[in-house]
Amino acid sequence: VGKEDAEYLVSLVRSVPGFPKEGIIFRDFMPVIADPRGLQILIAAIAETLPVAPEQFDAVAGLESRGFLFGPILAAQLGKGFIAVRKAGKLPPETIGESYDLEYGTASVEIETSAVAHGERVLIVDDLIATGGTAKAAADLIEKAGGKVAGFSFVMRLNGLDGIDKLGDVPVTSLISMP
Ligand code: PRP
Ligand code: ADE
Ligand code: MG
Repeated sequence: VGKEDAEYLVSLVRSVPGFPKEGIIFRDFMPVIADPRGLQILIAAIAETLPVAPEQFDAVAGLESRGFLFGPILAAQLGKGFIAVRKAGKLPPETIGESYDLEYGTASVEIETSAVAHGERVLIVDDLIATGGTAKAAADLIEKAGGKVAGFSFVMRLNGLDGIDKLGDVPVTSLISMP
């Protein structure tokens, strides 16, 4: 996408200081997908800046909830299927899970045991990487299920947190860097 489109995309991100708690600036991408032009630019920009070529992966995995809002659109555009990485407790058996640390306590993500084929190469997508805990747990889960993480693609990355460093030696792209 061109410079004008890229700037338009950034202009749609809403920043909300103090949500969900003091000291956090919440980076809200809902206005991006609510906007017809914003949504088209978003999908085009992600497809143009994939961390690996489309031939290098077989499926797109999105992380509940915000990764569900554009992951399947991207997958359809690339001619891939979509794997839903869910928060714990939502899926019927059989599932496998992976826990990760939040600022307070822990959380878990789950997939159906049959969601990933053996050796399947998976691109993981989400709206945002902060500490990287969510993305790392999703990657560990995909590998536990017999898949291989081909790369990560984020709409936004938060600077100052070591999120991407947590993801190891796998290619990562993000469209927008923010403090
Ligand atoms: C947000 C965001 C990422 C995650 C990033 O999701 O959508 O998934 O936090 O944080 P991390 O890099 O520190 O793990 P959240 O858990 O708030 O839930 P949601 O997607 O359901 O809104
Ligand atoms: N997830 C973790 N940190 C976030 C932030 N600052 N804005 C939106 N989602 C987030
Ligand atoms: Mg999320």
